[in-house]
Amino acid sequence: MMQPIHIEHTSAPKPRPKASDIGFGKYFTDHMFILDYDDGKGWHDARIQPYQPITLDPAAKVFHYGQAIFEGLKAYRTEAGNLVLFRPEMNIKRLNRSNDRMSIPVIDEELVLEALHQLVLIDQTWIPHEPGTSLYIRPFVIATEDMLGVSPSKQYKFMIIMSPVGAYYDEGVKPISIYVESEFVRAVAGGVGHVKTAGNYAAGLKAQEGATLQGCAQVLWLDGVHRKYVEEVGSMNVFFHLGDKIVTPALTGGLLPGITRDSVIHLLRYWGLKVEERLFSIDELVQVQKDGNLKEMFGTGTAAVISPVGSLVWKGETLTIGDGSIGELAAHLYETITGIQTGRIEDPFGWRV
Ligand code: COI
Repeated sequence: MMQPIHIEHTSAPKPRPKASDIGFGKYFTDHMFILDYDDGKGWHDARIQPYQPITLDPAAKVFHYGQAIFEGLKAYRTEAGNLVLFRPEMNIKRLNRSNDRMSIPVIDEELVLEALHQLVLIDQTWIPHEPGTSLYIRPFVIATEDMLGVSPSKQYKFMIIMSPVGAYYDEGVKPISIYVESEFVRAVAGGVGHVKTAGNYAAGLKAQEGATLQGCAQVLWLDGVHRKYVEEVGSMNVFFHLGDKIVTPALTGGLLPGITRDSVIHLLRYWGLKVEERLFSIDELVQVQKDGNLKEMFGTGTAAVISPVGSLVWKGETLTIGDGSIGELAAHLYETITGIQTGRIEDPFGWRV
């Protein structure tokens, strides 16, 4: 039987941020969920309590060896007034794949789903309603045992915090410029690129800083072995619209299996379009751009949903994608996915939960 979730309501609700100021991940709701793990006891003490700082021992393993994973998903209030999550079971399954890869004990899926629903219900007035906004939900696990030996922690905390968000990029849904990274790599097959562990994002920051210096918003990651095949863009999956088909890198082991990636593939096939999941090299990318066959390129992720790419910087040259503005397919995908999420349009796949 699923363990009960104990609820303690806040007595001091926080002021809400102004819609014009919400940005991404700056403000947090009134409550948070916590579940503890102790060796021998398993996951226990599920509770929702007022949002507050937590105290950890400086020797907690997460600070030293990065045994930590996270997820990201969103909640919406539909026009009919219902509270919905978008494909949460996919996030919960990936949460446990990430846990397993990082030697963290897996968590009861039913309990995680119940925790998500209850937390959203309690903080439902925090869901913003302006177009392009949502409530971003951040489940995460950290290793809390205070012991410096390199071994799996005997204690963990699983927490869920939530933040009202607007557009991920300050500029909104506008084409971004991308720097093709050829020195640093994000991941290799056999490593941890296919799971959502904290260190993947820390390891990407250096390249991100370099891209900023080149006047670009994000990097395009190439594979770690050949420095040849395109893998991801920034912290998103990537798609290319070439003539009569859409190509996205295959999940070869170093890429994160994105939930928006999966939704985009589903939708494109549902619309009767041809989608290829395969190896796609930077040379092929440059060639199709030079031949005038690269109609669109866009990133996909929970945070930004669809992020069109306007230009690429590769070997000192700037390559413009399409006419540099948001492409038709990217715009249609953005409208459809956010439409399904917010209940504006029909959900033929049962993605709203
Ligand atoms: C996403 O949702 O696209 C991400 O992975 C970005 C997140 C780490 C803020």
